[in-house]
Amino acid sequence: MDFNELFENRRSVRSYKDEELEEKIIFELIKAAISAPSAGNIQPWEFIIIRKKQIKEQLVMAALGQTFITEAPVVIVVCADMEKSGKYYGKRGAELYCIQDTAAAIENLILYAKFKGLGTCWIGAFSEKNVSEILNIPSGLRPIAIICIGLPAETPKKPYKRPVEKVIHYEKF
Ligand SMILES: Cc1cc2nc3c(=O)[nH]c(=O)nc-3n(C[C@H](O)[C@H](O)[C@H](O)COP(=O)(O)O)c2cc1C
Repeated sequence: MDFNELFENRRSVRSYKDEELEEKIIFELIKAAISAPSAGNIQPWEFIIIRKKQIKEQLVMAALGQTFITEAPVVIVVCADMEKSGKYYGKRGAELYCIQDTAAAIENLILYAKFKGLGTCWIGAFSEKNVSEILNIPSGLRPIAIICIGLPAETPKKPYKRPVEKVIHYEKF
C-alpha cells in the first residue's frame, strides 16, 4: 500500500470481527503513535489499553451509548498530560500543545493500523469526567480520545471531503 492509498482509503470503522489482536501489534501501534512530533519534544501522551468487556461496557455508557466500542477487541484511551506541557509552556502548553501533540500521535496510530489491515474509530464524544473515573486517570491528565481497533467487518464509503480548492488560501485568508 503506498502512502497516498493509505490515507485516501482510511475510514472510520464501526464494526469489527470477533478476533483478538496480538500484544505485538498493540506495541507496534503505540510505537507509531509515539513517533509523532510534539512541542519541545515533551511527548505528553499516555495510552490505556483495554481488552476487558466490562470496562468497554462502562466506556459505552460514558460515550453516549456508542455500543460498537464493545465490539472492538482492543480499545485504547489516549490521554494528554496537561501538567507536563503546562510546566514548560504555561497556558498554551496545557490548553493547546498537549492536545495537538496527542492528536498527532492518534493520527499516526490510526494510519499505522490501516497499514496493518486494521479498522479504527476515533471517538471524541464522551464524558471526560466519567472516563477519568472509570480508568483512574490522575488529575492533570485529560482523556482525549477513545480509539476502537479491530479487524474491520465493514467497508464504509468515503464521506464527502472538502476539496483542496475550498480549503486553501494564498498569502492571506
Ligand atoms: C475529534 C474526533 C472525534 C470523533 N468522534 C466520534 C465519535 O464520538 N463517534 C464516532 O462514531 N465517530 C467519531 N469520529 C469519527 C468521525 O465521525 C469521522 O472521522 C468522520 O465522519 C469522517 O469519516 P472518515 O474518518 O471515514 O474519513 C470522530 C473523529 C474525530 C477526529
